[in-house]
Amino acid sequence: MSGSDERSWPARERRGARDRRSGFDRRDEKAWQSVPLEAEKSVDLRLVEAATRARLHAQAPYSGFKVGAALELTDGGIVCGCNIENASYSLTICAERVALVKALSEGQVAFTRIAVVADTKAPTPPCGPCRQLLWEYCGDIEVILANLDGPAGRHRLAALLPLPFDGRLLT
Ligand code: THU
Repeated sequence: MSGSDERSWPARERRGARDRRSGFDRRDEKAWQSVPLEAEKSVDLRLVEAATRARLHAQAPYSGFKVGAALELTDGGIVCGCNIENASYSLTICAERVALVKALSEGQVAFTRIAVVADTKAPTPPCGPCRQLLWEYCGDIEVILANLDGPAGRHRLAALLPLPFDGRLLT
């Protein structure tokens, strides 16, 4: 073995992979900050409460990380989802996607906001694949992040998914 790293090949590879991850905390970066909550009443607590209730149905025996989502329709209706995990791990479906596919499968196609609730101090933003799917079907909706104490941040989806790939690029 040459060089300073005398560990076996797989160990070196694993370290390399970890170094490429986003491991350090980037939440302080300005571009990623939540839009400040203007006033408590400016956030629809009804939506956050619906997501909080949906979270109780989460099937998360592997991560123990329960998430609830509530997607608001333009007619004021709400469709909820929670994360559903599976022993094969990769089949896990996030709360946001459950809410979205439920709504679409019921013929709902016009959305205004989504609330995401987890039991964490720092709010839990949607993962990359969820952002992509929400962008496709909801457009630039408002994303309300909350924990069990209530709303903790608001974003536009466009701010969470800069330079998106979408159907317009296929034409
Ligand atoms: N999860 C969600 O449901 N939504 C998010 O926004 C982030 C992550 C779920 C997936 C998995 O069941 C667990 O949280 C841990 O990643």
